[in-house]
Amino acid sequence: MESNNSVWNLLNEIGKKQGITEIIINRSDLIFVEHQGELVKLNTKVEPQDLDNFVEEIAHLNQKKFSPEFPIMDGSLPDGSRINVIAKEYAQGGPAVTIRKYLKNIKTFDGAPGIFSLDPKWTKFIKTLVASKCNVMVSGGTGVGKTTFLNLLLQEINPLQRLITIEDTRELNFQLPNVVRLEARTGSFTGGTALAMRDLVKNTLRMRPDRIVIGEVRGGEVFDLLQAMNTGHDGSMASVHANNPGECLNRMENLYLLSGYDVPVRAIRQQIGSAIDFVIQLKRTREGQRVVGQITELAGFEADKILLQDVGVFKEGRLQFTGLVPKRMAKLVDGGLPKDFFVST
Ligand SMILES: Nc1ncnc2c1ncn2[C@@H]1O[C@H](COP(=O)(O)OP(=O)(O)OP(=O)(O)O)[C@@H](O)[C@H]1O
Ligand SMILES: [Mg+2]
Repeated sequence: MESNNSVWNLLNEIGKKQGITEIIINRSDLIFVEHQGELVKLNTKVEPQDLDNFVEEIAHLNQKKFSPEFPIMDGSLPDGSRINVIAKEYAQGGPAVTIRKYLKNIKTFDGAPGIFSLDPKWTKFIKTLVASKCNVMVSGGTGVGKTTFLNLLLQEINPLQRLITIEDTRELNFQLPNVVRLEARTGSFTGGTALAMRDLVKNTLRMRPDRIVIGEVRGGEVFDLLQAMNTGHDGSMASVHANNPGECLNRMENLYLLSGYDVPVRAIRQQIGSAIDFVIQLKRTREGQRVVGQITELAGFEADKILLQDVGVFKEGRLQFTGLVPKRMAKLVDGGLPKDFFVST
């Protein structure tokens, strides 16, 4: 983009560099980038007025209000990066701007061999989860790669299928022909009425989706997602913020309660247990590498608890087969997994 605005110019320059995952502007003269997991202070600054103008432009581009009444803004940049801004009244010296850049070389599993430390065999397994229309939760902590991993899964969807995605900020980035992308609107949008994630998930059921994908579940929409999964919308996916598969299910249970339905915990667990097939847990190793830490199957229900069974666990630098063949093997074989897939692992 041609511009005299020093912020856009800076972003353009940074965009040419490889391996930058985050751009952080604490103050017009205090700017950092995250490069391969490390924060580096840049020896550069922008004009304070340019920073204010830039934020205004972002608000405009995203049709969002940014004002004393709406001092926090989430949105995206034209290149698909996610941006968060908090006004100077609340961030000393601000506005404070945080931009999540996505690495351009991670688009498909085949185009990025070894991504998330997956060998070709595990990549095949994960592609088969998509092909066999398993319902999958991608779980992980902040910045571990949940959105990136969801994108990789989305790229494996059969292009003949109709996909509906629901996000609160537009972040997913994938190419498929038959897609409707829905975005929730909070009160901070200019024009139109507020529409919550829940409203969108509910409406999705009237749009004949083959699959429903929620960028990240953070609230009562878990209830609607589970209804969708339990009423034949197989192959649906979502990400959730949790540090292990058990915590992922606990969090879903808690988010379900936010829907306001007074359902006994046992019944919630039953719904979760029958809706979800696998949790793919992402984690960072001690060295900072982003990996698939666990692939866990929801293997049944006993004494009010969901039984979890790990198929793969990351150990000694790679994802290893636990010896527990998935209960859904027949479904996976239908989706193209060789019958003897685990025999020689
Ligand atoms: N396997 C990977 N290897 C290297 N970099 C990765 C990998 N996965 C994601 N990244 C990069 O790490 C950053 C964070 O990824 P991403 O936004 O997908 O994480 P997230 O878990 O969705 O984060 P958040 O919790 O903030 O939503 C991005 O810049 C992304 O390009
Ligand atoms: Mg994310």
